[in-house]
Amino acid sequence: MARTLQTQGAVIETSEAQIAVHWREEEYYYPSAKFVGQANLTDPNVVERFSEKNFPECFREYADMLSWDQYWQTTLDTSDPPFWKWFVGGKINASYNCVDRHLAKYKNKAALIFVPEPESEAPVSVTYRELYVRVNEFAALLRDFCGLKSGDRVTIHMPMVPELPISMLACARLGVIHSVVFGGFSGEACGMRVADSQSQVLITMDGYYRNGKLLDHKAASEISLEIAKKEGQTVDKVLVWRRHPGKNASASPFVKGRDFFVDEVLPKYAGELVAPVPMDAEAPLFLMYTSGSTGKPKGCQHRTGGYLAYVTGTSKYIQDIHPEDVYWCMADIGWITGHSYIVYGPLALAATSVIYEGVPTYPDAGRVWRIAERLDVNIFHTSPTAIRMLRKAGHDEPPKYNYHFKHMTTVGEPIEPEVWRWYHDTVGKGEAVIVDTWWQTENGGFLCSTKPALDPMKPGSAGPGVPGIFPVIYDENNQEIAAGSGKAGNICIRNPWPGIMQTIWGDHDRFVTQYYTKYCKNRNSKDWHDWPYFASDGAVLAADGYFRILGRVDDVINVAGHRLGTKEIESACLTVPEVAEAAVVPVADEIKGRVPEVYIALKPGVQASPAIVDKVNKAIETMIGKIARPKHIHIVPDMPKTRSGKLMRRVLAALSNNMNTGDISTLANPDIVENIRELVQGKEAVALADGPEDLKKFGTED
Ligand code: WTA
Repeated sequence: MARTLQTQGAVIETSEAQIAVHWREEEYYYPSAKFVGQANLTDPNVVERFSEKNFPECFREYADMLSWDQYWQTTLDTSDPPFWKWFVGGKINASYNCVDRHLAKYKNKAALIFVPEPESEAPVSVTYRELYVRVNEFAALLRDFCGLKSGDRVTIHMPMVPELPISMLACARLGVIHSVVFGGFSGEACGMRVADSQSQVLITMDGYYRNGKLLDHKAASEISLEIAKKEGQTVDKVLVWRRHPGKNASASPFVKGRDFFVDEVLPKYAGELVAPVPMDAEAPLFLMYTSGSTGKPKGCQHRTGGYLAYVTGTSKYIQDIHPEDVYWCMADIGWITGHSYIVYGPLALAATSVIYEGVPTYPDAGRVWRIAERLDVNIFHTSPTAIRMLRKAGHDEPPKYNYHFKHMTTVGEPIEPEVWRWYHDTVGKGEAVIVDTWWQTENGGFLCSTKPALDPMKPGSAGPGVPGIFPVIYDENNQEIAAGSGKAGNICIRNPWPGIMQTIWGDHDRFVTQYYTKYCKNRNSKDWHDWPYFASDGAVLAADGYFRILGRVDDVINVAGHRLGTKEIESACLTVPEVAEAAVVPVADEIKGRVPEVYIALKPGVQASPAIVDKVNKAIETMIGKIARPKHIHIVPDMPKTRSGKLMRRVLAALSNNMNTGDISTLANPDIVENIRELVQGKEAVALADGPEDLKKFGTED
């Protein structure tokens, strides 16, 4: 029997077998009595406390976990939808909350433990007292040497070292807005972000260890500055932390008067204290650039008070962080997960947060578990890609090491139940509770997850909305899809919450159109009920209220849990002079979930050659970074197009994934499809499979 899945306007016939693939009910797993016995959130009344009738005042509970310079008057101001304001009138400093306020009780406790990639270098602990000293000194340098003041922007392009959170917290102390760019992004990508945020200062590092090599990282800054300048933004100062102070790991030129080694300037500020600036709750704390449907990454602007309250509350209740825990989130601080759940959330709760410099499988598949054993980590947080990678590299490694996790997180992509079970049984040794947390850069913190001591786990399902979050699934006709119907739709959040971004930096219109226009019930309404947040993810809701996330419904490819815009990759391809047209589609990958695959058509008269493929590869690496490297680059004679000339990425995605292309008779050039199929799949016809939801629906036509 066939069923109908209503998705993205199109009605897609789906077989029972396929629904089973997407939506098989798994057995529940229950948290152990030992975990429940020590958990922060064990009162089932939390559901009532954070129910709609208590909204928005329920979020006082999170804000009250912080130390405020001035208490707020209005919890939620909805006067200018969808620009919600939280804790209005309150004043607070994020650096004070993550550092100073812990000194009385925890000054000698490790705030950060840095694990260098080379195993010959011992882990380095930074106590709360030491963090306080270092944040103050660096804040003094930013203020007095760079002339930075609250509201200014600074771009930070750094690897995973303690100097990264130190730089962020020093900015926060002054009210300077930081924009951290993932260290693996190229100089070009960083330069575009420097320009968009109008940063006058760039903070970087000479080099860092990755896969056994000391990489030259500072070299990227030269390109960043050049690109930023082209875009109209001049950077006055480049602050260069050194991996080994006194020694330089970078061969890149050092420009006198512009570039400064931090270890040479910092001694001038030794012992200086900088009073934390009481910031308006609504003052921006940071920008985090992320990919969307257009070519240009957007700067998600996060507020100080609401964001910090939200990440603190969710770190306490969902991550179950206590001050005595050793917490290790393996994400990179250059992504939102690192901001919220390596730096701000855990430090606001006085936890010990582990920062690992390198590759999880370096020098072998046991490394992660050796670190866990050595540091006695008890909370572990990572992505399905990392779990799949560790499972493949060392299926039987974890039991060889003597560590015990009480709690584990998975984030960033859907996790296959089979991988979930390995995480649970082998990594967690059957002892750890697992939370599958669904959320996005725009959201500040978790949206869906089980409450670890209260809700059973279900492999492959994120779970219900977390306290105070009311998710809903709508179809394309604005109708709510009922729980247990088996139908997929667009997951939305009905209400505002303190962690939601304020706006897109410099582009308020795009903020409204991207997230709120689609399901807005009344543009003139000041009632939040009329403004559901559209997340751009497909999802299914089971009868038990658990959401299962199916993946993006827009042009974003989730590569190893990292968001890449197809348009950004296509723009990079088009910088190669021989390329006339480019189309990028996601292809399923055993480890990384999805990876980009590139189709290019050449300009008339240009012969296809391996040299052109190399050039396209290089262009992608230069413009974006190695993470965007395509699985294949196919040179095709022409692109499949509609009669009005729209490029049909969906057809290419189907070919790349051995899926049914659907009806192609309406194309202007239907014959090209067989031609490309042969090129991609070979002469022999391959079995056509029904694919996952995000791949089937992929792609706008333009
Ligand atoms: C995906 C990362 C399934 C989703 C925090 C979302 C997930 C995108 C999950 C955001 C999850 C995140 N299960 N999919 N638990 N968590 N995603 O902005 O498609 O880097 O829209 O934020 O990752 O990625 P971002």
